Amino acid sequence: MSRHPNIVILTGAGISAESGVPTFRASDGLWENHRIEDVATPQAFRRNPTLVQTFYDQRRAFLGQVNPNAAHLALARLEAAWKGDFLLVTQNVDDLHDRAGHNQLLHMHGELNSALCTRCGAARPWTGPLLGNPTCPACRQPGGLRPDIVWFGEMPYHMNRIEAALAACDLFVSIGTSGAVYPAAGFVGWARDAEAKTLELNLEPSAGTPMFDEARHGPASVLVPAWVEEVLGSR
Ligand code: APR
Repeated sequence: MSRHPNIVILTGAGISAESGVPTFRASDGLWENHRIEDVATPQAFRRNPTLVQTFYDQRRAFLGQVNPNAAHLALARLEAAWKGDFLLVTQNVDDLHDRAGHNQLLHMHGELNSALCTRCGAARPWTGPLLGNPTCPACRQPGGLRPDIVWFGEMPYHMNRIEAALAACDLFVSIGTSGAVYPAAGFVGWARDAEAKTLELNLEPSAGTPMFDEARHGPASVLVPAWVEEVLGSR
């Protein structure tokens, strides 16, 4: 390991669960009472834009009712104190990592608080509703804005940067993700190819658990602060 090890962290819905944001793969297989294919695919948006816009408008509005929890805050402390390279990659579209405070944060599946214009391609910060054909702040055309969310069948964001960070990392930590969705589920394999140490922190064993050098199971609000203290204490 280099003197200041490089860390890449991947988070999923589990890190926001204790803030009150529902995870995706609940036992009923529904996401907030909807089948994923009815709200999280480009086909769903073409078929029923009102349903999809309403669904994400509700998720966006709900962000005002939730706050970062101890796990988000611990990762922000870690980034602020870390001397090596640090990159936080999240699959989450909520803004809880942003509000905890990060400089090195990538939303690989997009963000609720961003709108993407299907006419001009611009992505812009957006906190209000998208239903009702609002005007794009970039091209001034109405009717082209959609949630800036990477739906199933679309290409995740920032893959070049993520791949480069994983190739240079010494420690890869996966937090609160079921390991069901690629390419994120494959990051542990890329980290292993780079001979990084790998650690899973999740409520329960995930699909990827056998791939990790070490796995700790329990709530993120307990496991993550404890791990961060351990890492910072051992510098
Ligand atoms: N602490 C830690 N882990 C938790 C907690 C908690 N309090 N609560 C739940 N978990 C774990 C669950 O055990 C599960 O393994 O978090 C994981 C959440 O898994 P998913 O709901 O599948 O969410 P995620 O892995 O982020 O999904 C990946 O799938 O639908 C798409 O694009 C969407 O980004 C999402 C992607």
